[in-house]
Amino acid sequence: MKKILFAASEAVPFIKTGGLADVTGSLPGYFNKSEYDVRVIMPKYLCMDPRFKAQLRFKCHFYVNLSWRKQYAGIFETEYEGITYYLVDNEYYFAGDKPYNALFQDVEKFAFFSKAVLESLPFLDFSPDIIHCHDWQTGLVPVFLKTLYGSQNYYTGIKTVFSIHNMKFQGRWNLSAVMDITGLPAQIFTANGMESYGEANYLKGGVVYADAVTTVSKTYAEEIKTPQGGEGLDGLMYACSNRVYGIINGIDYAEYNPAEDPYIYQHYDTKNFAAGKRENKIRLVTDFGLPVDENVFLLGMVSRMTDQKGFDLIAQILDELLLKERVQILILGTGEERYEKMFSGFSEKYPDRLRVYIGYSEKLAHRVYAACDGFLMPSLFEPCGLSQLISMRYGTVPIVRETGGLKDTVEAYNEYEHTGNGFSFANYQAEELLATLRYAIGIFYRKREEWNEIAARDMLLDFSWRQSADRYEELYRMLTE
Ligand code: ADP
Ligand code: GLC
Repeated sequence: MKKILFAASEAVPFIKTGGLADVTGSLPGYFNKSEYDVRVIMPKYLCMDPRFKAQLRFKCHFYVNLSWRKQYAGIFETEYEGITYYLVDNEYYFAGDKPYNALFQDVEKFAFFSKAVLESLPFLDFSPDIIHCHDWQTGLVPVFLKTLYGSQNYYTGIKTVFSIHNMKFQGRWNLSAVMDITGLPAQIFTANGMESYGEANYLKGGVVYADAVTTVSKTYAEEIKTPQGGEGLDGLMYACSNRVYGIINGIDYAEYNPAEDPYIYQHYDTKNFAAGKRENKIRLVTDFGLPVDENVFLLGMVSRMTDQKGFDLIAQILDELLLKERVQILILGTGEERYEKMFSGFSEKYPDRLRVYIGYSEKLAHRVYAACDGFLMPSLFEPCGLSQLISMRYGTVPIVRETGGLKDTVEAYNEYEHTGNGFSFANYQAEELLATLRYAIGIFYRKREEWNEIAARDMLLDFSWRQSADRYEELYRMLTE
């Protein structure tokens, strides 16, 4: 039996700010249970879902030396859907109303977490063959392991995998501050180690010191080797491309299942989706206070409101789209204030056409996925993207830009061959987005049968975790045999 420990800063159902939590909370359940014992270690945030707090059992405590500081770490344990979760407790670091705070706080918080992960191992009755780290917040795990812990008996032979979910976030901070926080020796903070552009870079640390690096789609694995996608680390990614693997994400097909989803108004499957979606549309449009017309094209978005997701392009085309096309739009999201304000402004300007819910709501997200005809995701870059996978599972046709995982998962509709799963455009330009939306809307109104066939094909696609879990298993085997 191989033992794998996922280390991550968020995981469903305990805490989620984005797709990372979906991955770390669902992938562990898909490994072959007779060969892999996969567990998860994460912070115990004060703001975690309170429903799960009562179920946590205290397991042990110890102290973590962070340079001259000595910090308490408690470990709580719980099971969820057959997977063991360890939650690291420290009320100084993990208090607050959200998991992430200012970067200067987070670099110390996640240095603590990464060290606590390693310090916890002798107490867990679980000595992993592989620690699988996710994103910059756990980038120091491989660094600490290879430098401070590698020579200690207990830690010899432990391998690390580092998964990049988003190259944009690297955890970059002042060198001397990070030296002070981590207590790592000076030679770590050079160009061969975790120094980058004169700063300490946690993501770079993960990439340099891990035994293997993965990212969440094949196309993104290529894009990060280029100046356009590398966020300054393209040279590094190119140099170590022989140990970088692109493994596409899946989604939890039990959680996102229109036939059983407890959040949606009307269940449906591939046979009755047109009627089922119509009912969901009527109910949700009513809830949002838009005029109800089941024949109007309903376009949805569920997204973090950041530049990554293409909101500046949307800003440029919304007036034109709402004035000239027969369309209603529902948006669920939260993020940068300028985008939140922009959409509130548009909903005041077009009260019969557009509604926005600023905030985070699992229930509303499921309802938007189920109710809409089209789902918009014109990302500037997208390592994988789960929203388009979820929307396809609900028979909601994605309209995307061909980047990263969007390119790998949404095959463009071909009117002549009657193939494809959605609509896409190549260049990050407002005119291309508008033209693609118009084309999609045209197909919806003029060729409804074709549209329904696209939706039906989407519902039949298989983006469950099984194939991707196989690829991770292969990688784990390669590292441990
Ligand atoms: P990212 O991780 O870059 O935000 P993904 O597409 O990988 O993008 O994953 C986003 C996840 O977060 C999806 O599960 C999506 O439904 C969810 N999500 C995003 N915004 C919200 C919101 N405001 N309310 C509920 N769920 C949201
Ligand atoms: C990141 C990326 C997103 C990806 C998710 C899970 O948040 O932005 O594209 O799907 O991680 O891997």
